[in-house]
Amino acid sequence: MTKRSSNIVWHTNTVTRQKREKLNNHRSFLLWFTGLSGSGKSTLVHGVEEELHKRQLRTYALDGDNVRHGLCGDLGFSDSDRVENIRRIGEVANLMVDAGIITLAAFISPFISDRKKVRNLMPPGDFIEVFCNSSLEKCEERDVKGLYKKARLGEIREFTGISSPYEKPLNPELILNTGENSVEACVTQVMTLIETRLALREWEMKE
Ligand code: ADX
Repeated sequence: MTKRSSNIVWHTNTVTRQKREKLNNHRSFLLWFTGLSGSGKSTLVHGVEEELHKRQLRTYALDGDNVRHGLCGDLGFSDSDRVENIRRIGEVANLMVDAGIITLAAFISPFISDRKKVRNLMPPGDFIEVFCNSSLEKCEERDVKGLYKKARLGEIREFTGISSPYEKPLNPELILNTGENSVEACVTQVMTLIETRLALREWEMKE
């Protein structure tokens, strides 16, 4: 991104992330779900968010299809638009984590470099990459939204997995075999990871 604003000076808040986390009584972080369309990202994000909410933790879910109705409504699916989409979401997610909220993001986010940029926006350990691993065949077979069929017919161009690339994460914090395992089993896997993390965080907060 080329920065066009000049003469701007960063103002340091006195109410810090740490103070907000103390008030919430839990740390914040970003769970980033990546995978093909139809690999279960949104379903899992909402399932995990329900579980966190039940435990009285502050959460917010950002979802590709929803965000593209507003904040990213001016973007399409070319490579450069996808880069800009993830850049904006990364910035928003970073603000939310700074606000003390456990943030969950469900975006195809097909490029390794864009996911890495989001990871690098925040302190080490705060970006948790969850790869929703389901084969193209499985996603296409399910075709929940009927988009694969349209993409095969050429009615949708630049469709991920068909006419647009998807780069699998090389070293994600968690791999979910969403093609084979149930939603409940995958939610449990994520919750196990989060619980270890929250326990660690509670310990860190006491310091
Ligand atoms: S991303 O590639 O920029 O990360 P994002 O997650 O925001 O994509 O949006 C993906 C959603 O948009 C899909 O779940 C699908 O419902 C819809 N969609 C519409 N056109 C396309 C397309 N050409 N490629 C992928 N998804 C598409």
